[in-house]
Amino acid sequence: MDLSQEIAKRKTFAIISHPDAGKTTLTEKLLLYGGAIQLAGAVKAKRGRASAVSDWMEIERERGISITSSVLQFPYRGLKMNLLDTPGHADFSEDTYRTLHAADGAVMLLDCAKGVEAQTKKLFRVCRQRKLPIFTFVNKMDRPGREPFELIGEVEHVLGIGVYPITWPMYRGGTFRGVYHRTSKKVYLFDDKRTSSQLGGAEMAAVKVTGLDDPLLETELEQEGYARLREESELLDAAGDAFDEKKFLAGDVSPMFFGSAMNNFGLEAFLDTFCDLMPPPGAHHSTMGDIPPDGDFSAFVFKIQANMDRAHRDRVAFLRICSGKFERGVKVLQVRTGKEIRLANPTTFLAQERTIVEDGCAGDVVGVFDPGVFEIGDTLTSGKKFSFDPIPSFSPEHFTRVVMVDPMRRKQLKKGLDQLAQEGTIQLYRPHYGREGESILGAVGRLQLEVVQHRLKSEYDVVTRLEPVQIDFARWITRKDGAPVDLAAFARGECGTAALTARDRPVVLFAGEWQLNSARRQFPDLEFEETGAEAGTTLA
Ligand code: G4P
Repeated sequence: MDLSQEIAKRKTFAIISHPDAGKTTLTEKLLLYGGAIQLAGAVKAKRGRASAVSDWMEIERERGISITSSVLQFPYRGLKMNLLDTPGHADFSEDTYRTLHAADGAVMLLDCAKGVEAQTKKLFRVCRQRKLPIFTFVNKMDRPGREPFELIGEVEHVLGIGVYPITWPMYRGGTFRGVYHRTSKKVYLFDDKRTSSQLGGAEMAAVKVTGLDDPLLETELEQEGYARLREESELLDAAGDAFDEKKFLAGDVSPMFFGSAMNNFGLEAFLDTFCDLMPPPGAHHSTMGDIPPDGDFSAFVFKIQANMDRAHRDRVAFLRICSGKFERGVKVLQVRTGKEIRLANPTTFLAQERTIVEDGCAGDVVGVFDPGVFEIGDTLTSGKKFSFDPIPSFSPEHFTRVVMVDPMRRKQLKKGLDQLAQEGTIQLYRPHYGREGESILGAVGRLQLEVVQHRLKSEYDVVTRLEPVQIDFARWITRKDGAPVDLAAFARGECGTAALTARDRPVVLFAGEWQLNSARRQFPDLEFEETGAEAGTTLA
């Protein structure tokens, strides 16, 4: 099969949701439907994990699992699905955001009783920035939930995306009875007495009806339920235009589905539409314009994972292949350094059973052995000198001061923090004023901070203490006239803590909106920009 045919089979996506919406369950069911049953165990293992984030063994186990399941590749109806892992729960981190940069689309999973929740919003924002096509699956329909129209309204208003329901829930006597497929006019009946284990990887067959006038529907739903379905269908038809695929591909409209992952219900209808609509890998923007997927090899690094096997200091770098074919041992150009690197799969370096893809083409994610040379956002090509658009760094939400316990280990601490910051594990801020050697760390997830503390000890032999700091967020600072910024103006610390990042970029750390506002008043010639965006500036 030629390369473009191979690429056209790829569907590379992630599931975004708030913890407990059913992502693990849905992932398992997708694997089951795809026939990749042997992988379901890996996903299940995640479920059993405790929430004790301070237990390093737990972190290690989690990381082991997230290495093996960084990408789950499974076949479905002749396609190759690449489901990227976006960890939730306590291990939510910058990696979670970055992974969305490796995806071509997303499935937003909502709990029908809870609707749009905090983490869903955060992840959605990243998808929106990337204009990713987004599917919405409303889960747990077997349980009482919110009115479907209310859920649509919430998605539209809170997230600012249009919704087009493809399936619509039906009720009998107020109890969920199934879904009506609005475009295929099929009816899927729900039977909660048949458990998922009885069904295995299958779903009950859909019943074809001729349309809403089919007498079968009235019999099934009884008068009241039938009247409700008709009324709601009319409302839906009157409210919106036909499904607009262009708007969907631009991330402006999301097709919505209702079902129950646990009960294998509504998944087939969802998957069929998903296979039809989800775009295959497309072109990626670079310094040389758009790079089409069927050219020579190119990829970017979106995640680096330290090897938890202490006998080796190796790391695994995860690449999203943007174009061409990857073969184990291939030599590529690392554009940032101009060096040629041989890419080796890390499989042989780890005892754990791995599910990392061994070779692949555009759309796939591969893990390669990283002897400490890669950085997040690195572009790798078959020789051409171009760089893909940078992966933005995301605003940290948790901050801590890292205090050295043994002052003799100052050098090692600096080295460790610099390396971990470079790897993208943590945001590092060196306050412009204050006790020397005391840095402030920022992270998207709290667990990241504990991981850093542990790695400083195990990899750099530096014992540290994490102390709370009164910091809520960081802002890049630049002068409106483009002149260099003078951090000395912040010496008294009343208008925030001035600091330099690991790459010597000036930032100010604020204890709250009030402090940012007073800094804005005091320094009208400065711009304070969210640290999610890159902003180059020179220091006075
Ligand atoms: P997450 O990965 O998004 O955090 O969610 P997960 O799949 O672990 O699901 C969270 C809980 O919701 C689990 O219950 C799961 O069984 C349940 N769940 C998932 N899908 C459905 C559904 O369609 N209907 C209903 N009623 N429940 C669903 P748990 O009690 O926390 O775990 P378990 O004992 O069932 O494993």
